[in-house]
Amino acid sequence: MNILVTGNMGYIGPLVIQRLRASYAGATLAGFDIGYFGNCITGAEVLPECRVDIQFFGDMRQFPADILNGVDAIVHLAGISNDPIGNRFEEVTLDINYRASIDLARKAKEKGVKSFVFASSCSMYGSADDRARTEQSPLNPLTAYARSKALTEKDLAPLASEQFKITSLRFSTACGWSDRLRLDLVLNDFVAAAVSSKRITILSDGTPWRPLINVKDMARAIDWAIVRDTGQGGNYLAVNVGSNEWNYQVRDLAEAVASAIPGVDVSINKDAQPDKRSYKVDFDLFKKLAPAHQPAVSLRDSIQELKEGLESMRFRDTEFRASRHMRLIVLTELQEKGLLNQKLQWIKASESE
Ligand SMILES: NC(=O)c1ccc[n+]([C@@H]2O[C@H](COP(=O)([O-])OP(=O)(O)OC[C@H]3O[C@@H](n4cnc5c(N)ncnc54)[C@H](O)[C@@H]3O)[C@@H](O)[C@H]2O)c1
Repeated sequence: MNILVTGNMGYIGPLVIQRLRASYAGATLAGFDIGYFGNCITGAEVLPECRVDIQFFGDMRQFPADILNGVDAIVHLAGISNDPIGNRFEEVTLDINYRASIDLARKAKEKGVKSFVFASSCSMYGSADDRARTEQSPLNPLTAYARSKALTEKDLAPLASEQFKITSLRFSTACGWSDRLRLDLVLNDFVAAAVSSKRITILSDGTPWRPLINVKDMARAIDWAIVRDTGQGGNYLAVNVGSNEWNYQVRDLAEAVASAIPGVDVSINKDAQPDKRSYKVDFDLFKKLAPAHQPAVSLRDSIQELKEGLESMRFRDTEFRASRHMRLIVLTELQEKGLLNQKLQWIKASESE
């Protein structure tokens, strides 16, 4: 089995590689990444990329099809990964997340890849009433990021065939420890605030619904999707990935962190406009299709692993929302240093001279 994981050098990637290494002992694992966050390592003893057999560096927007010779499955994680970056770089987000993903899928189909797993997102449900969204619910993408995922799914569906199985995993918001931790994710942000300042400030009024999932459980779902039986779910499948019990309101998450870490104050901004992105999600289909790959990590353990990880790196940065643990800040700094251009392409040394 030859598996290519794009975007393996980000937050989720290291956990996916670990999981696939354990599940497919004899497999050749390759990674493909542009390396934006290559040196955003958080406490890892070895470079996570030591665990792949081959690491390719490149831009999804100029993806060399030859890499796909002999590849059986692709896990496509590479992309602009949140709303703040998408808002700032709208066209680039569509180029990388949407156009380059469809280009990759077309090339993969031509090269005889059998399984294509796409990291989609529940954020495409956008704003919804209190009823949980199923895969049949109308999409309401409110941001460039969410639109890029919805457009990709729409154009991936007709590419699927008996020989080319496609699975769009509509992930809940990730949380938990990674060798390349992100703190621009709601639970991770709350734990970092609790550890560094004993004070959690909720930026909204705390009422938005947000389904969550631990990164290890995302990797578990990916593991399932690679080899899933098309007899269930069909050649093209879009499925919500998470669990019904992990639909939380943001204030519940803050309270859960405060009760796990003694002495933490929670302040809710009562004057804040309600966050428009609020959605509860129905995960029944995922439960039916993948009973052996259901989320297994508890919220309490997710908080604990984050707390212990941050403490082991002696994390004390009370200004972390302005730090390199935020993906947008890393990209902005790389631009300010003249390393990335407006399209988020690396500026080669010879071009900047
Ligand atoms: N983290 C979440 O909560 C979440 C939820 C749903 C879906 N997803 C999706 O999962 C995927 C991975 O998320 P993450 O949290 O690991 O994000 P991340 O930002 O940590 O990692 C994304 C990786 O993609 C790479 N990349 C970006 N543009 C590229 C390009 N043009 N060419 C090659 N590589 C490129 C980056 O260098 C980075 O290593 C993303 O597609 C994201 O949209 C994430």
